[in-house]
Amino acid sequence: MSYATKIGSIEIRNPLILASGILGTTYSTLQRAYEAGLGAVITKSIGPRARGGNPNPSVFALQEIRSLINSVGLANPGYQSFRHDIETLIENQIPTIVSIFGENISEFSEVLDGLKDLPILGFELNLSCPNTDKGGVQIGTDVDAVYNIVKTLKDRTNLPLWVKLTPNVSDMIEIANAAVKGGCDAIVAINTLKAMVIDIQTKQPILGFKRGGLSGSAIKPIGIRYIYDLYENLDEKIPLIGVGGIYRGEDVIEYLLAGATAVEIGSAIGVAYPENMIRFITMKIRKYMKEHDFSSIAEITGGAHK
Ligand SMILES: Cc1cc2nc3c(=O)[nH]c(=O)nc-3n(C[C@H](O)[C@H](O)[C@H](O)COP(=O)(O)O)c2cc1C
Repeated sequence: MSYATKIGSIEIRNPLILASGILGTTYSTLQRAYEAGLGAVITKSIGPRARGGNPNPSVFALQEIRSLINSVGLANPGYQSFRHDIETLIENQIPTIVSIFGENISEFSEVLDGLKDLPILGFELNLSCPNTDKGGVQIGTDVDAVYNIVKTLKDRTNLPLWVKLTPNVSDMIEIANAAVKGGCDAIVAINTLKAMVIDIQTKQPILGFKRGGLSGSAIKPIGIRYIYDLYENLDEKIPLIGVGGIYRGEDVIEYLLAGATAVEIGSAIGVAYPENMIRFITMKIRKYMKEHDFSSIAEITGGAHK
C-alpha cells in the first residue's frame, strides 16, 4: 500500500501539506510541522517588501463551529529577508513550496526571480488573500489578470507553479481555466471566505481590521464542492489540491474522493500541536485504504465521480 502522491512532476511521501500562513514564516515551526508527519510544507505568502500586519486582534476562534476568522493579511518579512529561512528548510531536507504574492505582474516577477534559484519543490501563487485592500483580491477575481500573471511567471521559471484560488468570486471555474491556460501545474482551492464577527456587548466588530476571512470546519463543504466542480469542469485535467476545514482523516478522504490528489491543512494545525493530529489522520487514511481495498492515493482520487 503506497501513501505517496504525485502532483504533476512533484512526488511527496503522503498527501498532507501544511497550508500557507498558518505557522508564520519561521523555519523551525515549519520544520516541526513536517517532522510531525506531513508530506510537504508551504510558507506564509511572501511579497516583494516587508509588510506589517493589521491591527490586533487579527485571529479569533469561533469554537462552536470549530473555525477561525482572521485578518492577518499579507504581513511578511519580504523575500530578501525570508531567503535564509527557505535555505535552512532545504538544508534540513524539508520539501518546501514557497507561497508568493504581489500587487501586479512586476511585483510577482520580482519575488519569483529573487527565489527561483533555490531547490524548492515549486511556488504557490496567492491570488486570493481577502484581507488587504490591494493585491490578491483584485488579481484573483480578474480572469485576464490571472492568465497574464500565470503566463508571465511560467515563462520565467521551470519550477512548478500552483495557483491558489479565492472562493470570493461568482465563477471560480472561469478563473481556474484562465490559470490553466496560463500554464499552471496545479490548482489549489480554497482560500478563506469573506466573513465578520461582532461582539454584541460592545456592539463593535471583534477583529481590529473589522473584516476577515473564515477558515476551519465551517468552510469544508464549500471546499469540497469547489474541488468536485473543478474536477469535472476544467478545460484540461490538472492536479487539484483541496484545502479548507480538514481536521480528520475522513475530511482528507472526502477531498480525495471529490478529485484532489493532495490536501493542505491550515486552521487545525494552527490550534493544536500537530503531532497527534497528523498521526490520527494518517491512521484513519490507512485504515480506510485497507477496508476499501485501495493500494494508492491515486486510486481514491475522483472516486465520487464514478
Ligand atoms: C491565520 C491564517 C493566516 C493565513 N495566511 C495565508 C497566507 O499567507 N497565504 C495564503 O495563501 N493563505 C493563507 N491562509 C489561508 C490558509 O492557507 C487556508 O487556505 C485556509 O485557512 C483554509 O484552510 P483551513 O480551513 O484548513 O484553515 C491563512 C489562514 C489563516 C487561518
